[in-house]
Amino acid sequence: MILAHYYQDDAIQDIADFIGDSLELSRKAAATDADVIVFCGVHFMAETAKILSPGKTVLLPDLDAGCSLADACPSDAFAAFRAEHPDHLVVSYINCSAAVKAQSDLICTSSNAVDLVRQLPLDRPILFAPDQNLGRWVQAQSGRELTLWPGSCIVHESFSEQAVLQLKLEHPEAEVLAHPECLPHLLDLADFIGSTSALLRRAAESPAQAFVVLTEPGILHQMRLQVPGKSFFDVPGADGCSCNACPYMRLNTLEKLWHCLETMAPAIELDESLRLRALAPIQKMLELSR
Ligand code: 13P
Ligand code: SF4
Repeated sequence: MILAHYYQDDAIQDIADFIGDSLELSRKAAATDADVIVFCGVHFMAETAKILSPGKTVLLPDLDAGCSLADACPSDAFAAFRAEHPDHLVVSYINCSAAVKAQSDLICTSSNAVDLVRQLPLDRPILFAPDQNLGRWVQAQSGRELTLWPGSCIVHESFSEQAVLQLKLEHPEAEVLAHPECLPHLLDLADFIGSTSALLRRAAESPAQAFVVLTEPGILHQMRLQVPGKSFFDVPGADGCSCNACPYMRLNTLEKLWHCLETMAPAIELDESLRLRALAPIQKMLELSR
């Protein structure tokens, strides 16, 4: 079973068995009866698949495909942060290591974070890690105060506000779609905010014919395939650079995927006691997600 995130190269998306956002990919990894999952995404996604399906071989075309959010939250520093807030419930975005998941009460993704936080008991304070931008947005949407870990995504922090305004000048009818990992001043410009799958659905359902898309531009491939006839514009980085493409996601290539299938490597391996500790908050997420 080849699973691919929307941020993968077009060629990888075209041969994947299933393409989805982080929540959909976790659900698929948990449900499939395939013996081998090739995860075309980043390390925390493949690791989550292994946590959910320990009996399966889980391959990642390039083991160095990390994530700036996961890197921004080392498990020992996170343990110290938790120790400073012993009464808090710990909600961690799925973009973190198994060692951080193992210290969490609940995992969330960008598609269910608001809904899950709203379900938490009102008398318990909440720590939210590692994405402060997603955390601020969840805080505003849920009305719950969150103590935020100061991590961020290097891709979603790179978009140029000036480029968004220029695109809006050129295409005043265009709707601005944004992922909640974006900085607050960019979210203020958005007409619709949601996970990658939610942005794709919105592009199909909206009466608008043009869209400025504030997330990694890999998603534009599915938007153009699934919503033909509408126009989609990605947003470059602040100096016009292409740092809007995730350097970790893009480490996976069609050649590495082929090599992976030939050799059944590199595979994700996990210590069993860590896996079990990381599994509990992921299972809780899957139970609470509507
Ligand atoms: P979603 O898959 O939840 O939209 O999150 C995007 C992302 O940044 C994955 O790394
Ligand atoms: Fe991590 Fe950002 Fe890349 Fe997603 S886009 S994998 S959050 S660095």
